[in-house]
Amino acid sequence: MDKACNKEDITILAIESSCDETAAAVVRNGREVLSNIISSQIDLHTIYGGVVPEIASRKHIERINQVIGEALQTAGTELREMDAIAVTYGPGLVGALLVGVSAAKAISFASGIPLIGVHHIEGHISANYIENQELEPPFVCLVVSGGHSHLVRVSDYGEYEILGRTRDDAAGEAFDKVARAIGLGYPGGPKIDKVSKDGNPDAIQFPRAKVADAVYDFSFSGLKSAVLNYLNSCEMKGIEICQADVAASFQKAVVDVLVEHSMQAVRECGINKFAIAGGVASNTALRSALEEECAKAGIAFYHPSPVMCTDNAAMIGAAAYYEYCKGVRHGYDLNAVPNLRLGE
Ligand code: KG4
Ligand code: ZN
Repeated sequence: MDKACNKEDITILAIESSCDETAAAVVRNGREVLSNIISSQIDLHTIYGGVVPEIASRKHIERINQVIGEALQTAGTELREMDAIAVTYGPGLVGALLVGVSAAKAISFASGIPLIGVHHIEGHISANYIENQELEPPFVCLVVSGGHSHLVRVSDYGEYEILGRTRDDAAGEAFDKVARAIGLGYPGGPKIDKVSKDGNPDAIQFPRAKVADAVYDFSFSGLKSAVLNYLNSCEMKGIEICQADVAASFQKAVVDVLVEHSMQAVRECGINKFAIAGGVASNTALRSALEEECAKAGIAFYHPSPVMCTDNAAMIGAAAYYEYCKGVRHGYDLNAVPNLRLGE
């Protein structure tokens, strides 16, 4: 793969703005992060209980130039040293994506440095290359974030086969909705993770949904409804709920399903390497359950550190490097594609 690049070092400026983080990074050879600047908007959206797309777009516009400048400066590099400008072009919020795509196109056009559009999920998967220097495909990857729940077979760099996906809510979405219902607020995932440590995961038996005709697919909306029904029935009976027990029992139900499907996929693919990615991959219960199951099964388990699990631009720079080596370049007609599918 590396031989396809005829230069010794490939340095990429990467930009990410698909949701509520304005981010830019400088990454060398797909694995070495020279800078990774993340300007989070979480505080702004918290008062609304979730991401407000119009506010996200506006904040991206206000911050993007500064974030890009900071990424170059922190890396000790200059724009002219870049071999490519990479940007997330989907999936995500269209207005948010457009800010990053427009900035990347403008920089590329003005400087003559090639442009590479990157799939956001490919970025999440590639975060594993940064912190697991020895990891190479093939491996199976569970991508679980606020917008996605996918089980992916990574056959080679940039080559993906979707084994399973959610039929309704993404895992992170379920965390966020349940957190709101039990009064924890946004963003729900980290809060449920924390509160669950004081709760009993076996206190309430929530359902573990299976999708009849697709063993690797997920469904979390039934679980979310079961939690809401439980809360309603407690309220009607005048029973005070134990927030920590509800959080821990809900989290256990999600983790059980994610672990079971992942381990089955790894076994059936005959691959002994397994990785996780996306915001929910920073969940401590999920990480320890997968660590334990992989150890039992003799499977090597890879996971990025929490900051590399949630949205960042370094992961986009890592993914872009392998696209660059394959000769992928985009034209100035590159557009934001809110529902971009992996492999397109
Ligand atoms: O990957 P990400 O930053 O953005 C998307 O691409 O969606 O993921 C954000 C999601 C949110 O739903 C958030 O609640 C969830 O990841 N999340 C967590 C944890 N940290 C973030 N979910 C469970 N446990 C966590 N520790
Ligand atoms: Zn993401």
